[in-house]
Amino acid sequence: MGLDLPAGPLVEQPDLDLRMLDHWDNLDGTVERGYAGNSVFFSQGEVYLGGRRLADYARLLASVGINAIALNNVNVNVDAMALLTERHLPRLGELANILNTFGVRLFLSVGFAGPIASGGLASADPLDPEVREWWSQTARKAYSFVPGLGGFLVKAGSESLPGPRDYGRDHAEGANVLAAALAPFGGLVVWRCFVYDCQQDWRDRSTDRAKAAYEEFLPLDGRFADNVVLQVKAGPMDFQVREPPSPLLGRMSHTAQMLELQLTQEYTGQQVHLCYLVPAWKEVLDFRPRTSVLGEGARVAQSVTGVAGVANIGDGPNWTGHDLAQANLYGFGRLAWDTTASAAHVASEWAGLTFGADHTTTEVICRMLMASWPAYEAYTAPLGVGWMVTPGTHYGPSPDGYEYSRWGTYHFADFAGVGVDRSTSHGTGFTAQYDEPWRSAFDDPATCPEELLLFFHHLPYGYVLRSGKTIIQHIYDSHFEGAAVAEDLLTMWRSLAGRVDVARFAAVEERLARQVLHAREWRDVINAYFYRKSGIPDEKGRPIF
Ligand code: GCU
Repeated sequence: MGLDLPAGPLVEQPDLDLRMLDHWDNLDGTVERGYAGNSVFFSQGEVYLGGRRLADYARLLASVGINAIALNNVNVNVDAMALLTERHLPRLGELANILNTFGVRLFLSVGFAGPIASGGLASADPLDPEVREWWSQTARKAYSFVPGLGGFLVKAGSESLPGPRDYGRDHAEGANVLAAALAPFGGLVVWRCFVYDCQQDWRDRSTDRAKAAYEEFLPLDGRFADNVVLQVKAGPMDFQVREPPSPLLGRMSHTAQMLELQLTQEYTGQQVHLCYLVPAWKEVLDFRPRTSVLGEGARVAQSVTGVAGVANIGDGPNWTGHDLAQANLYGFGRLAWDTTASAAHVASEWAGLTFGADHTTTEVICRMLMASWPAYEAYTAPLGVGWMVTPGTHYGPSPDGYEYSRWGTYHFADFAGVGVDRSTSHGTGFTAQYDEPWRSAFDDPATCPEELLLFFHHLPYGYVLRSGKTIIQHIYDSHFEGAAVAEDLLTMWRSLAGRVDVARFAAVEERLARQVLHAREWRDVINAYFYRKSGIPDEKGRPIF
């Protein structure tokens, strides 16, 4: 970095205890929502220990302070159920040893229906003594092969996966049976709160997916065992480019929570687009929920015991597909360690460590990173409304792709206006899940943060924003401006020709060139969509199709 070392010893205490990456890797070597190649842990149905890659990865994680990983996909399929058997446990033990050398603990994602799928039992009812016994024996066996196991990560009762509700039990009863099995070994249950009805009828205007996690989990505060941590996605929906912080964060007084972020760019350009997410994560970590539990000044960062990030790496030679997406991995670790670090500082630190101490290079890359998230937001779905992506792949624009489907992700655009009315007075009432002053702030379009306006309100295209622009004109302007920034990113990068090694220069240039084309596609599809819905022309007369 070319910086002077401090004179005395440097002592740092990480802000968060559990700094974890969740890998969505499958045993066949594929990675769910992975954009950087195949799994570095699994190949052809087996735990893969070949080569140096694993030790390199563990060392890389340790270098940014990450101290835990969940190895396999939260959607645990039949193959992965067998991870807890003698077939895979010996190799998992070896793998855990390699990780432990670098201070990284291993967690495994487990299926709630394990007692049926692997144990041959008739039920997975958490209150059934046989089920209890199965989990306890399974944990004992796992620890006999993997003594340093951190615990289990669980997605239950979510997106059609089995869960406690299938047996008339709640999530506390479900989590606690696993917690009891892990407790003798000091293991943790990380239980996900990403629970909602994914079979919603789009005609039903009373159900609001955003409300689901809070409604499901808040009443259970105080009922979870001490070794259960609830993993709460940053926003109430699903890793969109802009969402309000989840109202569940900082809301439970007797239950440990960890924040879940997504490094892999599922909804943010899939590592083809440059999208440096640290500024977005900082907004959640710095949010002051002002709940009665937390008090006035406390930030979300002070209310959680840890942070989990859905990993963005694969077996591609540069780990993350897009070379500059490494900044998200680095930034995640740095932020988990020091939640007060600034996004720009982390960006320039990463650029310097990665590309050398040339000031121009660091400065240009830092500017590119800092411009990238606002640009992506500007040329995709407007003002917090989210979605509008191609169903299934989640790449590229499809404004009505999810509008009439069962996933609960609607924007309700019609000839007159767009957005979701989540107000207390005439909407879904989601705003009531926040304490004051947020409840009132979100409830009223006049005080709602404008970047979230259409998340919370359905408004006419002629509604005037604080900038003096109408919503429709804002949509047109932001889409032209955002796509222009994508072009600037390419120009900025090209200004570094000769300063960056040839291979990385070419690889990044190729991705940025694709981003330019895709940003144009987003711009034109979204602008055309709203022009055709509203019939209102662009004041500036630019081409809209
Ligand atoms: C998203 C994502 C899925 C994933 C899910 C989850 O919906 O598209 O691939 O399984 O989140 O977080 O569990």
